[in-house]
Amino acid sequence: MCGIFGYVNYLVEKNRGEILSTLLEGLKRLEYRGYDSSGLAIDGDKPNEVFIEKAVGKVKELEKLVNSQNLDTSKVFESHSAIAHTRWATHGAPSPLNAHPHRSDPTHEFVIVHNGIVTNFRELKALLMSKGFVFETETDTECIAKLCKYVYELNKHRNLDFSQLAKLVLVELQGAYGLLIKSVHYPGEVIATRKGSPLLIGVKTDKKLKMDFVDVEFPDITVEAVSTTDTLPNPSLLQVANNGLLNPLMGSDLRHSQSRAFMSEDGVPMPAEFFIASDASSVVEHTKKVLFLEDDDIAHIYDGELHIHRVRRQDGQSTTRSIQTLEMELNEIMKGNYDHFMQKEIFEQPESVINTMRGRIDFDTKTVTLGGLSAYIQTIRRSRRIIMVACGTSYHSCLATRTIIEELTEIPIVVELASDFLDRRSPVFRDDTCVFVSQSGETADSMLALQYCNERGALTVGIVNTVGSSISRQTHCGVHINAGPEIGVASTKAYTSQYIALVMMALALSDDSISKTARRHEIIDGLAKISSQIKTVLQLDDKIKQMVTSELVSQKSLLLLGRGYQFATALEGALKIKEISYMHSEGVLAGELKHGVLALVDEDLPIIVLATKDSLFPKVVSSVEQVIARKGNPILICNEGEHPVSRPADKSLRTLEVPATVDCLQGVLNVIPLQLMSYWLAVLNGHNVDYPRNLAKSVTVE
Ligand code: G6P
Repeated sequence: MCGIFGYVNYLVEKNRGEILSTLLEGLKRLEYRGYDSSGLAIDGDKPNEVFIEKAVGKVKELEKLVNSQNLDTSKVFESHSAIAHTRWATHGAPSPLNAHPHRSDPTHEFVIVHNGIVTNFRELKALLMSKGFVFETETDTECIAKLCKYVYELNKHRNLDFSQLAKLVLVELQGAYGLLIKSVHYPGEVIATRKGSPLLIGVKTDKKLKMDFVDVEFPDITVEAVSTTDTLPNPSLLQVANNGLLNPLMGSDLRHSQSRAFMSEDGVPMPAEFFIASDASSVVEHTKKVLFLEDDDIAHIYDGELHIHRVRRQDGQSTTRSIQTLEMELNEIMKGNYDHFMQKEIFEQPESVINTMRGRIDFDTKTVTLGGLSAYIQTIRRSRRIIMVACGTSYHSCLATRTIIEELTEIPIVVELASDFLDRRSPVFRDDTCVFVSQSGETADSMLALQYCNERGALTVGIVNTVGSSISRQTHCGVHINAGPEIGVASTKAYTSQYIALVMMALALSDDSISKTARRHEIIDGLAKISSQIKTVLQLDDKIKQMVTSELVSQKSLLLLGRGYQFATALEGALKIKEISYMHSEGVLAGELKHGVLALVDEDLPIIVLATKDSLFPKVVSSVEQVIARKGNPILICNEGEHPVSRPADKSLRTLEVPATVDCLQGVLNVIPLQLMSYWLAVLNGHNVDYPRNLAKSVTVE
């Protein structure tokens, strides 16, 4: 989905070539999120001049365009602000015009990059058109750029600073945004602000910062008077016109405050660089010191300082934002020796599952400690119901672990797709525990469902990969799955780590139950071996590649059958195949086979059956028999030496043998051949594995 990258240097000399390559590299690190066009804005050769470059396609296309422009790359800027963007189209087709940055006017007085959707853009556009603004794109974003200019002109005589201006603009916007604003009226400065769309700021200075936090600056009475429209529940167009944009700033001497963190000992301004991004992966190579913005924060970067403003003070709100140290390493977001991120991430699973368990499971004492949940374990145990809410692969990890959580906790579990849960306005009560599972921690549907549950007083728990993400911050408690950055759009290592984190949650919740001790110990012993068993499964890679080459690559459709624990595996396998190979694939509950799906079975349709040993194995064997009786020729994922159909006539059946583990963990192993199969299907069909068409890694729009 859309990505934002901004770069500000203050008293750190950079030539234009260096600035451009910082921007382009920053955008490349965001490519994995999925996008269709990109663009950037930098200062021009003359004062008050801004260059905007935009291109459809990969960042490489933007790079080619920039290189073809004969820009003076040696021109040195002591202080400079630049913004850049990768766009995933929501309003208006991918085109250079619709790509960001968007501008206020042909002279680029204000330029904007934006993630999210401005829901009242039609009203704003109509208002601005009535004031003479000429719109050139089909996007919602353009109205923000034009609104900036309109508000600036209305208040020109008041000498607003950039953050004051931004406040006046932002109170008029409805919807979601991560936003950077650059203006010729505020050279070297940037406004960065968010509402429902992530944004973080990396800080790089030679000298150590005086504080590891930044104070939040609240308005004084004078400024509060400006933002009266914000108190209107739904500012109508008329209200916007009458009360909002035209509302004057009551005469004030606006001043720049000084940030304690950036104040230098000797009072001399400190050289500094700022990297603003929607995602830590584009910042980590420059600095590990980052500040995560919260919703409605307005960050104002100028003169080597970072200020956080808010339109109004609210009770219980934190008055500081901490500058944290990212633990992510650059090599974690590089492909290394692998051809694709997805391949690397599949092969990382022996380590990523260990990282999920590290410091949490004591295999000697057979105990599980989840620090992020410990204060809430009793409350969760007392809850009347656990509602698990997620989208896509994360939803499948909930389905895969629902049975074991229910078995160990004896609490009824409901598993919900976030969008459907919201569509139904499903009842939620104060004694419910709502568990939100998300790799990115930013998925819009899951976020909205979280807000819905928080509003209803339920306890909310996050099972999230991305530290500092919205879901991890807005839930009461939770577990980071610690799988490391996942770049491939098709989720692989996050699935197995979510799976294990959820099993650990079940173990932690049930450690007061003596009757469950033997079962818990069996699972913990299973977890102790899971990493080495994943390594064994990964050795099937060559066999799977051959199988895909010889019989699957040219197929149009594929069925996956599973039941019990393996139904979730079938669904997840089918999703992987659809996502990256674009082949129709369907995960079918084996018990439902005879209720319709059997009509599809013939000698041509490829069918994969998850037939590892558990209590439902005899029933799965009978499904295999039914398929064979209809001339089907299934591929079986079964345990080593445990061929489900052993009659001589069936010797021709193809198998992928995986090690056996405890029933509730078998899905961790069984999904891996399917991940590899989807990978090879995509590679052999010549598809872009890491950036499948039409999909995004982090879906931040509803
Ligand atoms: C998108 C991604 C999927 C992912 C889903 C949920 O659709 O392409 O891979 O499973 O979002 O994302 P989340 O970050 O909430 O796990």
